[in-house]
Amino acid sequence: MAPPLLLVASALALAWACGATAQVAPVELAYTQTGAVPYFPFFLCARAQASFSLAPVVTNVGGGQYCFTLLAVPCNKTCCNVPLKKIEFNVYSSCLVPGASVSATVNGVPTAVSPSFDRPQDGPPGSSILRVTQLGLNLTSNGAKICITLKPNSAGQGCTTLEQLPPSPSPPISSCDMCIDLTIDPARVFPPYQFDSFTCEIVQTSISYDINEKAASMGLMLAQNFSVDASKCSSDKISVCGKFASESDAAQLEEWTRIQAEQFWVYSFASACTPVMYGYSFRITTDKCMDVEKSRTCSLVQSDFPFCGCQRKRYSTPFYVSPSASSEQGRTNDTTLYCFTLGVLPNDFALLPGRCNSSSKVAKVEIWANEDRRGKLRGFRLSTPDGKTRWLSPSWGDKGSNTAKVSGLTWNRATANGAEVCMELKNDISLQEFCVSNVCSISLFDGHSSKACCPTYQSVVA
Ligand SMILES: *[C@@H]1O[C@H](CO)[C@@H](O)[C@H](O)[C@H]1NC(C)=O
Ligand SMILES: *[C@@H]1O[C@H](CO)[C@@H](O)[C@H](O)[C@H]1NC(C)=O
Ligand SMILES: *[C@@H]1O[C@H](CO)[C@@H](O)[C@H](O)[C@H]1NC(C)=O
Ligand SMILES: *[C@@H]1O[C@H](CO)[C@@H](O)[C@H](O)[C@H]1NC(C)=O
Ligand SMILES: *[C@@H]1O[C@H](CO)[C@@H](O)[C@H](O)[C@H]1NC(C)=O
Repeated sequence: MAPPLLLVASALALAWACGATAQVAPVELAYTQTGAVPYFPFFLCARAQASFSLAPVVTNVGGGQYCFTLLAVPCNKTCCNVPLKKIEFNVYSSCLVPGASVSATVNGVPTAVSPSFDRPQDGPPGSSILRVTQLGLNLTSNGAKICITLKPNSAGQGCTTLEQLPPSPSPPISSCDMCIDLTIDPARVFPPYQFDSFTCEIVQTSISYDINEKAASMGLMLAQNFSVDASKCSSDKISVCGKFASESDAAQLEEWTRIQAEQFWVYSFASACTPVMYGYSFRITTDKCMDVEKSRTCSLVQSDFPFCGCQRKRYSTPFYVSPSASSEQGRTNDTTLYCFTLGVLPNDFALLPGRCNSSSKVAKVEIWANEDRRGKLRGFRLSTPDGKTRWLSPSWGDKGSNTAKVSGLTWNRATANGAEVCMELKNDISLQEFCVSNVCSISLFDGHSSKACCPTYQSVVA
């Protein structure tokens, strides 16, 4: 009865021994196979990463000839970068019949020693191999063509096609499915930071690219590449999943993954920790195969602005400034408006305890700005949700205070919620250059006295 047809690529197993020598054994057994090594290759050797593999595509030339392409890649493990002395194939015992023959060539040249069938002594009873030795191949042999020709005996017995060379059960190769998760730790921050689909795609693209490339550069074949997958995106978690060929492959990338996670992947969706992320910790974890957990907190920029005794902590009053500023064309072609949007915190958002939590108005807005560049500020535009807009001339605090300010406001919860304070700047200065410390700090005062509340927020144009 014909053996089952198997996929050629999976029907072959390849082994290279670190220094093992070939033995020519008779087909008639003079010994009992012990089964001491139940899995192919049936002798003890390091089943470790090495430099050689066979390309998955095998060419059936006809006439019982099959050709393989050798892949040779340098690597850095014990069994790497040594010459390839022999290749063993795990075959059916029915291949071992007297008179059947097999020959091999490397790049068209017959091998110095003919290949031979054998019953490995430490294999289980019946286990059989085809051994091709004295190959003379090394790292320079990438792409070498190795061809094997199978000939039946005169009675037509033996193996004549590769489909009759399947493996007996080989060790369960436990491939390793895993995900790398980027999550946001809960924090009392408003507006809450959430991943959107665009961000998710950026994160998945950069992490999967990095890990696929790294695996490839180490000569590891992933069972499934890490990939972009919109179904693995949610507002507080992004997963990037793939499959390693084995746990030991995954282990080889573990340390690299830790470093990569902390240095790059926690902020892979942003060029840096920016005001929209202030107060949040971002965490990278792996669910299986390797053990990685790294997190980074995006901390508020600490400063003493607005340099007075007022309560400057954010969330001390019900008013806040959006961390995302916007920009638009100014009144003339050579100016740009940079707008900060105010809001009122939701009623269920816990304000900082203290007298400021009952504050009900915004009387003054101060912006920490570089007063050496004061000539670049052309004016302020104020607008409120009732549709009213007015322009004010630039106004600055005391010399040395680096404070641009808008005073005399009478905004309450209704008028402040969605109000905009825009600075009109000359085009030859960026908002970052105009604000002190790269991000803009904006204070919302509820009065002009020294007892005023002045919660201060940071904002940048995204
Ligand atoms: C092997 O190690 C050397 C030196 O430690 C390094 O330069 C090289 O990039 C490594 N090669 C691979 C494939 O990891
Ligand atoms: C690698 O094999 C080639 C061809 O057989 C041979 O010319 C070369 O000397 C070998 N190189 C090493 C480092 O053994
Ligand atoms: C997997 O990733 C590697 C490295 O980026 C790439 O060369 C290869 O083509 C990818 N495989 C698939 C099936 O996309
Ligand atoms: C402003 O730019 C527009 C379009 O580039 C141009 O049509 C217009 O004449 C410019 N106005 C001034 C005052 O330069
Ligand atoms: C305001 O702070 C006081 C403590 O000073 C606290 O008792 C009160 O509950 C707070 N109110 C709000 C609305 O947070």
